[in-house]
Amino acid sequence: MLIPRSAILALVSSSLALGAPGLRRSDTSRPHRCVVPSSNGTADDTPAVQKVFARCAKDSVVVFKEGVDYNIFTPVSVTNLSNVEIQVNGNLHLPQSIAEVQKVVNRTNRVTYADGQHWFTFQGPKIDYIGSSDVNNGWINSYGQAWWDANPVNGTGIDSRPHLMSFKTTNGSLKYFKSRKPIAWNVQVEGDDIEVSHAFIDAESTGSFPFNTDGFDVTGTNVRITDSVIYNGDDAIAVQSGSHNVVFERNTIGYQSHGMSIGSLGQSQDEFANVSNIHFEDVTVIDAVYGARFKSWMGGQGLAKNITWKNIRVYNVTFPIFVTQSYLNQGSSQTQLGDGQTTGRVNNASVVMEDFSWTDFTGTINTFRPGDGSCASDPCWYDVGLPNLKHTEAVIIECNTEKSCKNFALRNIQLIPQSMEAPTAVCINATSALNPNLGFDCRNGTFVPS
Ligand SMILES: *[C@@H]1O[C@H](CO)[C@@H](O)[C@H](O)[C@H]1NC(C)=O
Ligand SMILES: *[C@@H]1O[C@H](CO)[C@@H](O)[C@H](O)[C@H]1NC(C)=O
Ligand SMILES: *[C@@H]1O[C@H](CO)[C@@H](O)[C@H](O)[C@H]1NC(C)=O
Ligand SMILES: *[C@@H]1O[C@H](CO)[C@@H](O)[C@H](O)[C@H]1NC(C)=O
Ligand SMILES: *[C@@H]1O[C@H](CO)[C@@H](O)[C@H](O)[C@H]1NC(C)=O
Ligand SMILES: *[C@@H]1O[C@H](CO)[C@@H](O)[C@H](O)[C@H]1NC(C)=O
Ligand SMILES: *[C@@H]1O[C@H](CO)[C@@H](O)[C@H](O)[C@H]1NC(C)=O
Ligand SMILES: *[C@@H]1O[C@H](CO)[C@@H](O)[C@H](O)[C@H]1NC(C)=O
Ligand SMILES: *[C@@H]1O[C@H](CO)[C@@H](O)[C@H](O)[C@H]1NC(C)=O
Ligand SMILES: *[C@@H]1O[C@H](CO)[C@@H](O)[C@H](O)[C@H]1NC(C)=O
Ligand SMILES: *[C@@H]1O[C@H](CO)[C@@H](O)[C@H](O)[C@H]1NC(C)=O
Repeated sequence: MLIPRSAILALVSSSLALGAPGLRRSDTSRPHRCVVPSSNGTADDTPAVQKVFARCAKDSVVVFKEGVDYNIFTPVSVTNLSNVEIQVNGNLHLPQSIAEVQKVVNRTNRVTYADGQHWFTFQGPKIDYIGSSDVNNGWINSYGQAWWDANPVNGTGIDSRPHLMSFKTTNGSLKYFKSRKPIAWNVQVEGDDIEVSHAFIDAESTGSFPFNTDGFDVTGTNVRITDSVIYNGDDAIAVQSGSHNVVFERNTIGYQSHGMSIGSLGQSQDEFANVSNIHFEDVTVIDAVYGARFKSWMGGQGLAKNITWKNIRVYNVTFPIFVTQSYLNQGSSQTQLGDGQTTGRVNNASVVMEDFSWTDFTGTINTFRPGDGSCASDPCWYDVGLPNLKHTEAVIIECNTEKSCKNFALRNIQLIPQSMEAPTAVCINATSALNPNLGFDCRNGTFVPS
């Protein structure tokens, strides 16, 4: 089911209305107010934007005016901000032509998606990006539809796609961030003490699948993401290696989302991938492939500890609870190992999972049209290694070894397949010795809470 845009807008405006006042710093600490001029659609406004940021990189408020359209036809990169509020009240536009964007990305010789040219780069301490609280203003329009539709049959996204934003700060915030039809990845959030709230990401497609339209990719400590709506075609949030104390709550995610993810962890086999104290609570998940998801690479190393998903409502979700410790990326053989190696990944280690809980899940499992448009192979990437799927699975837990999953606990899992059959589980290697309070029988078949 596609949620009508009007319903999403209603959802977002009600969550906007409920929003607590922002964490604004007193104006006295930011005495400079700098308004960004616009060419009114006649030119690339990026040079003017850069000029304003160069002048107002410190203790300033930089304002994109309401009612004004800004052409951001080349990337904006400001890496020396300090105590700056960025008020985005106008609407920003990337080029509508794929070639214009690719020209820029190709100049940097970064053409594979693992690389990461960002269209907006904001870095430095105390950055507050504050979009407009009015749903019609403060959008970044990236015209991603053309990019999604240009993807060939069974492709996984065309080359030279930029990421939308790198937001790297300490003691900063991102509020009312609004992204319409991002080309691919939305925001890389990096740093410490960052508050993201009232974001609205809309990557719904009227044509082909919006590959890699991740909502928030997080690497940081003390990061909170709340009161947001993320409709997209990849992870709504991906908590990456090196993240600690991350909270994701009161959010709605959906469309062809790949859910609330930890990972992927351990792609690089000789580095430790650690995350800890990650909490997801009070989230509605609609039509997504995954709800609560953990993914790590076999042969990776590290520790994921104290991770919880609580009070999660799912509607028409294919895999509400999913753990894999043998993850691989679809399609792109060059990303399997890193360093140009494409074969021979050794299964000699696991990213160990410890103290995981899933509590109070309700809703429906997608029985009738499982999966989504991201399937570009046979079997689909999301079915790999799961040959006996019934699509009635409330829980899939696949541990790489008998020692790699410890202290898992599932409580009050009330998930029902749309077919009204009994919910089932696939469970591998979550042994009772290490998981005495698992909460169900770790075996394949009917899901039996214990
Ligand atoms: C369930 O989600 C799938 C995949 O997004 C979609 O194709 C299907 O129409 C949805 N079904 C219902 C009943 O909403
Ligand atoms: C753009 O339009 C605004 C409002 O009409 C006007 O004040 C401004 O001078 C225009 N800017 C340019 C560069 O034409
Ligand atoms: C920030 O960098 C810009 C461009 O490199 C430079 O012009 C400006 O002076 C710098 N500002 C501060 C406060 O360092
Ligand atoms: C950019 O590079 C990609 C990958 O090599 C290529 O497919 C595309 O045509 C190039 N586009 C432009 C405008 O240079
Ligand atoms: C953020 O600000 C608080 C209060 O001013 C301070 O204690 C903390 O060290 C700051 N965090 C960072 C990462 O700078
Ligand atoms: C596993 O093998 C890879 C590739 O040979 C190596 O880089 C990695 O350090 C090994 N891991 C362990 C835990 O031995
Ligand atoms: C990751 O955690 C393990 C186990 O606690 C520890 O030995 C290792 O040093 C940590 N690595 C990093 C990079 O934090
Ligand atoms: C587990 O993580 C949560 C935050 O997600 C934190 O409040 C709690 O103190 C952590 N527990 C331990 C034992 O560290
Ligand atoms: C796309 O992939 C599917 C599944 O592997 C295959 O059946 C189909 O032939 C492929 N289509 C093209 C045009 O390659
Ligand atoms: C459970 O199902 C998984 C995935 O289909 C399979 O790999 C595994 O062998 C099964 N375990 C048992 C004991 O049948
Ligand atoms: C379960 O763990 C054992 C080692 O502890 C491993 O040999 C086996 O392959 C694992 N099973 C699956 C299905 O991954």
